[in-house]
Amino acid sequence: MNNANSGPTASNSGAGINSALSNQAAVAKSVRDALDGKSVVFVGIMGVGKSTIGRRVARLLDLPFVDADAEIEQAADLSIAEIFEKFGEPYFRSGERKVIERVLKDGQQVLATGGGAYMDAETRKTIAGTAVSLWLDADIELIMQRVMRRKTRPLLQNPNPRGVIEDLMAKRNPYYAEADCRFVSHDVSRDTIAAEIVDMLNRKLNPGKDPLVNQ
Ligand code: S3P
Repeated sequence: MNNANSGPTASNSGAGINSALSNQAAVAKSVRDALDGKSVVFVGIMGVGKSTIGRRVARLLDLPFVDADAEIEQAADLSIAEIFEKFGEPYFRSGERKVIERVLKDGQQVLATGGGAYMDAETRKTIAGTAVSLWLDADIELIMQRVMRRKTRPLLQNPNPRGVIEDLMAKRNPYYAEADCRFVSHDVSRDTIAAEIVDMLNRKLNPGKDPLVNQ
């Protein structure tokens, strides 16, 4: 694997670190060039890390990061929980569709969507027309560890949150699988995951091309 965090460049010497960083910068540049103005959109189940990882991927690619849930909260001047409580889920979903369409018109970015957004056919079409979509996946144990840290997700206000997540994964995974690529998260640092994702995007967008070699 063309991974800036492994192999002979991953030493503790100053020269090794510098060379790993410049490899990473070359890979990031090659991804940006290949994106040719398109955005990168993270989709996947709640708690998988779309926002935390998306923000780091944006930093590596030197692109703005947008969090769809935060945009919805700002537009409504209410938290997601309050929108669900006051107006119900269908209202939230229609706001979510409009906000994603609007932000993707704002130019190239890395966008993290809420876990249910990609279920909407219109939203999938908008994303397909403007972005490379990336399904961030993980096993249920990792997701449960993460979702149990935050008690604000309305769909998990349920005596059996694991059952809810299992049901959602069964229903939603076939839709997430329509994304352009899939990355399975694992138990390493968020910075490492972000670098691995940029590497994967490079392999996807520049097949057979080594960004470190002038071709
Ligand atoms: C939802 C996921 C949440 C948020 C809302 C609904 C879902 O976003 O949009 O609570 O339907 O899975 P995250 O995936 O960022 O938690």
